[in-house]
Amino acid sequence: METIKKYIEENKQRFLDELFGLIRIPSVSSQPEHKDDMVRATEYIVEKLLEAGADKAEVFSTEGHPVVYGEKIIDTKAPTVLVYGHYDVQPVEPLDEWDSPPFEPEIRDGKIYARGADDDKGQLYMHFKAFELMVKTNTLSCNIKFMIEGEEEVGSKSLKKFCIEHKELLKSDVILVSDTTMIARDVSSITVGLRGLSYMEVEVTGPNRDLHSGLYGGAVANPVNVLSKMIASLTDENNHIAIPGFYDDVQEVSRDERNEMAKQPFNQEEYNKSIDINKEVGEKGYSTIERIGIRPSLDVNGIWGGYTGEGAKTILPSKASAKISMRLVPNQKSKKVDKLFEEYFKSIAPDGVRVKVTSLHGGEGYVSPIDTVAYQAASKACEDTFGKKPIPVRSGGSIPIISDFEGVLGVKSILMGFGLDSDAIHSPNENYPLFNFFKGIETIPLFFRYFAEQ
Ligand code: BES
Ligand code: MN
Ligand code: MN
Repeated sequence: METIKKYIEENKQRFLDELFGLIRIPSVSSQPEHKDDMVRATEYIVEKLLEAGADKAEVFSTEGHPVVYGEKIIDTKAPTVLVYGHYDVQPVEPLDEWDSPPFEPEIRDGKIYARGADDDKGQLYMHFKAFELMVKTNTLSCNIKFMIEGEEEVGSKSLKKFCIEHKELLKSDVILVSDTTMIARDVSSITVGLRGLSYMEVEVTGPNRDLHSGLYGGAVANPVNVLSKMIASLTDENNHIAIPGFYDDVQEVSRDERNEMAKQPFNQEEYNKSIDINKEVGEKGYSTIERIGIRPSLDVNGIWGGYTGEGAKTILPSKASAKISMRLVPNQKSKKVDKLFEEYFKSIAPDGVRVKVTSLHGGEGYVSPIDTVAYQAASKACEDTFGKKPIPVRSGGSIPIISDFEGVLGVKSILMGFGLDSDAIHSPNENYPLFNFFKGIETIPLFFRYFAEQ
């Protein structure tokens, strides 16, 4: 561990400078105006992988954003670790809520502030530097492959196809991913569960144009009023999702496992304070940790319609829309949930409006076993660097491609993430503590060491 620490200490500034170079490329996958930035990001990644010691690294173009593949094969008999990460980031709007420009990384109070600082450029870059460290100190004990995509934040469509078409190239014993969180700076954890996702857009149309709300108001169904009521009837008074059949495939978690989850350090008061709410709210009969880790949820992500400009405009709008996402638990199938949602949503539409339902994207959840060589290697690595055995945790977030890795490549993933809930991923002022960045670089080489010792 001393060699590792020394190497990091001597190269700290350069590691950061390189990461900042990647962060400065505004690779927002959902916005077409950033298409060229996606290509620039992949070129930067190829250059950095080669500099770090990869035998080869190349850009594969796809129907969507390009994928980078790189590798260093030390011995065909050694185990192979496939590192996955994503170079795409979420949009930065609203811009005026950022304290510094999102693509101009700035260090304040020991944290890197920028879009992608954590999710996932910062976490991905830890792997590049851990790889460099192993190459330069002659300690790389596994073959290593890198697969870096640019569509994670929009559903990983092209990567799934890439996996189907390159099974042989991607052959590996385990997939290693840092794109999740740990419980706290001094409480390390390994993610053993991810939720799936169904993401829908709905549109309610009433009259063929916006109407004068005096001449027509009270006599014509108002799409915004109607949509509000329809959304309200998606859940009941116990915050149970009201879509018929929705819970049919939900795996009930045993009392034992729930008791185990309850031992996880969690302070409800601090949680509420950190997001400035006076009371937590969720499905009746479950704790916050359970509501996030083992229960599905339904949320409106955005809603629009009618007049929202300054001052008053007296209209009865023609249309109202909303984006609605459902987080799913393992065993629920996203396509099936899409269908159940669509059927139910249409069935509750009253006379006087027409309803359109579109599925935007989705994916399946994941649970990872802890009785594997790979999990034990990750656990030992974290124990070495954090001084305590990491806690296995089911996260509420989603990385849909992880279940495809298992389905298509037949390989399980280890989700050894170093982010914190307070990193504000997807939000203004996303950040990543330097402590976590360097701790990650220190921990990853130990995973390789223990994994090779299997
Ligand atoms: N890295 C996140 C997922 C994540 C974060 C999982 C923290 C666990 C802990 C990933 O980039 C992400 O944001 N995924 C999307 C899914 C996607 C289909 C848009 C999500 O969870 O909203
Ligand atoms: Mn991510
Ligand atoms: Mn994300």
